[in-house]
Amino acid sequence: MEEPKIHKEAVKELSELSDITPAIEGVSTGTRLDELFFKVEKGKKKSLGGVPKGGVLNIVGVPESGKSVLVEQVAIHQASLGSKILFITTESPAAFLYTALKGKAEAMGIDFSKIEGKMVVVDASMEERLREDLPSLLATLKYAIKSRKTTICIVDSITGLYEHREIMARSIVRRIYNLLKREMQTALLVSQKRSSQAMETPEAAGGLAVAHIVDGTIVLEKRIITTKFEENLYGMSVGEILRTLRIDGCRLCGHDPRPWVVRITDEGLIEIIEPLVDFIKRERKRGEK
Ligand SMILES: Nc1ncnc2c1ncn2[C@@H]1O[C@H](COP(=O)(O)OP(=O)(O)OP(=O)(O)O)[C@@H](O)[C@H]1O
Ligand SMILES: [Mg+2]
Repeated sequence: MEEPKIHKEAVKELSELSDITPAIEGVSTGTRLDELFFKVEKGKKKSLGGVPKGGVLNIVGVPESGKSVLVEQVAIHQASLGSKILFITTESPAAFLYTALKGKAEAMGIDFSKIEGKMVVVDASMEERLREDLPSLLATLKYAIKSRKTTICIVDSITGLYEHREIMARSIVRRIYNLLKREMQTALLVSQKRSSQAMETPEAAGGLAVAHIVDGTIVLEKRIITTKFEENLYGMSVGEILRTLRIDGCRLCGHDPRPWVVRITDEGLIEIIEPLVDFIKRERKRGEK
């Protein structure tokens, strides 16, 4: 058996860490998600104005809940502010992603020609070796981050990396997470739910692996109104769709725990509108009149 090795570099005085500890600040998303993360300074809550910088967040939801819409919109918004974005696609081939991003930029009133150069795409959707061979993927991502000096990383979806080997989810996500952390990326990892998983939970393909490893989870829900009770509660009709977004947890800073009502516009933009509780209260008042 191999002799145990002492890793002296892993033992650090707390005081040594002060220089390498990042300040808690926000990376704006251009949506009201920016109001939902906060820090507390001198007893006062202060909004971060974005998702926590350097954080790796998990975006979970059932199909068509708005995961891609949200991360694409954030990527375009950040590119328009001058950030360099790395977009790893395991689902939509790069050519289709290009069309989606272009359409979205137009809908957002952003000149696509000005942001094209701010985005780098790694297409793992067509390249099976990138999806199946983790060391190659990690090396490619590291190369892309370093050579293009990216600061924001989107993976849509992380599930695509363990589609038929969910048992591997934990180790795959852990190694990608470690790379993103080492390279100081602010990251959004999209994860898909399996049909047996309740839509309001952070659970996704691979179980709770992603949620346990990452710094925080945002759950997107898509609820179709089916009962009279829901019709009365939400002031909507059977068949209509109620979408919500909720920050399930974040270990980097404080956050609003409430579900927020979300709308996806005809142009495919996501709007975070108001807390669900306010929406329901308003509907109740309207119903009483
Ligand atoms: N370009 C668009 N124009 C109009 N509506 C759109 C557009 N793109 C998406 N949508 C709407 O947004 C909804 C959510 O789409 P999105 O692609 O974000 O889902 P998702 O959560 O990523 O699903 P999946 O798990 O299947 O990838 C769609 O059902 C559709 O109604
Ligand atoms: Mg998607």
